[in-house]
Amino acid sequence: MEMKLQPQPHVLLLPFPAQGHIKPMLTLAQLLCHAGIHVTFVNTEHNHRHLTQRESLSARFPTLRFRSIFDGLPSDHPRSISPYFLDIVTSLRSTTAPLLHQLLVSLASKTNDDIGAAAGDQLPPLSCVITDGLMCFAIDAAEEVGLPVIAVRTSSACSVWCYLCLPKLIEEAELPFGDEDMDKTVSGVPGKECLLRRRDLLSICRMPVDHPVFKFFMEEHIAITRASGLILNTFEDLESSVLSHIASKFSKIYPIGPLHALLKSRVDDHDLSSSSTAMAASLHREDRSCMTWLDSQRPGSVIFVSYGSLVKLTRVQLLEFWHGLVNSGSHFLWVMRSDVLSDEGEHMRHVTPTELEMGTKERGFIVDWAPQEEVLAHDAVGGFLTHSGWNSTLEAIWAGVPMLCWPQVADQQVNSRWVGEVWKIGIDMKDMCDRTTVEKMIKALMGGEEREVFTRSVDRFSKLARASVSESGSSYHNLEKLIQDLRNL
Ligand code: UDX
Repeated sequence: MEMKLQPQPHVLLLPFPAQGHIKPMLTLAQLLCHAGIHVTFVNTEHNHRHLTQRESLSARFPTLRFRSIFDGLPSDHPRSISPYFLDIVTSLRSTTAPLLHQLLVSLASKTNDDIGAAAGDQLPPLSCVITDGLMCFAIDAAEEVGLPVIAVRTSSACSVWCYLCLPKLIEEAELPFGDEDMDKTVSGVPGKECLLRRRDLLSICRMPVDHPVFKFFMEEHIAITRASGLILNTFEDLESSVLSHIASKFSKIYPIGPLHALLKSRVDDHDLSSSSTAMAASLHREDRSCMTWLDSQRPGSVIFVSYGSLVKLTRVQLLEFWHGLVNSGSHFLWVMRSDVLSDEGEHMRHVTPTELEMGTKERGFIVDWAPQEEVLAHDAVGGFLTHSGWNSTLEAIWAGVPMLCWPQVADQQVNSRWVGEVWKIGIDMKDMCDRTTVEKMIKALMGGEEREVFTRSVDRFSKLARASVSESGSSYHNLEKLIQDLRNL
């Protein structure tokens, strides 16, 4: 008797148009393609153009296709999240949403000829949408077309739980803050009553609750619970207690992180080095010269400094960090993005005090964009001064590198609280960056009494992360469940 093969599902992945979202979504796309699933990955036209490695990815994963969609912004719009977040999300909701609807209708039809034959002629009709949780207009569009939707949040479970608690915090009058006491404890986040101070809440909690950005996040986190499942880039041993709270709001959750590590563990391909996968998802050009510099440094002696892809600093803040770094005596590798300065300081960028130039020449190395995963894995790196973006936090945990956290926006304030108080894998420098504090904390991170506590704890989580993506691990198993659920749709 001839066995009939079940056709593979066809899933559309829609990331939010920012580096920290595209990277984990593209990793998820590769994991699904590796299981034979057809994936249509939809970037905005602008990001589509900047993702230069598309062809090599499609060659490696033949069921991966890229499509682009108009974000509605004029061609000369800078599109940087800071300070244009509202422009971007408003335009996505008004212009991109109806375009997405049209795209879903065409991909869900039996013929879907508009795809063309480039990627093979047997593309099945679309069976599911996997959308970033900040693009919940995709839930409306998919419902209208009759397609199921699964959401992805690219930030930590602890921050997602805070977002989901926003209506409760308002109801219980914890938001907006009634006075300026940022150290006051917040009790409206179930399970975390004694842990969170006002300053540890999401950055939007510092805004009035009728601010359009606050309203945007609250609306998205109300809409997201209509998705039939939630994918999270975290692992059970790291965030089990918040995961059980989040699970009460969704019919299914899939904690499948760290995604970058899961990809390495599932795809047995010597070509899939961390640099090639990370580069494939990068909107920036990496400067690899820092790897040679790191090779010449002593093990554990270098602090790696990076504020992720969107945080901006004033020139005053940048100089305070610079003084603190130089005065700490540590060797440092610093990612100073060309757009790192907020507008007010931009014109003064190239005026650097002589003592900083000297100190940097002796002990530092500055690049525009580094191969971060590789840097963190390098023997010479003994600490990470970070903005506590979630991808960076997971990458540091995976590499076993303790952190000094200077959170700025979105989920970062929550992540850094967990780093300092729950996981004890670093120091939370929140809301301070004067040169004396920076110097003192770098010394504490790199060689103080507490360093042993941090390294022991981060080693433990690094091992748990490795276990979670191994064949018997929870993230591996949860991905299997996700794949099975996609097949059963
Ligand atoms: C922000 C949020 O803070 C994050 O938590 C959220 O989930 C997405 O939006 P971002 O500022 O981009 O993200 O930081 P992060 O999440 O840490 O992501 C940055 C990514 O860029 C990391 O994967 C990091 O490896 C990569 N990177 C950064 C490089 O490859 N090279 C660099 O020089 C700097």
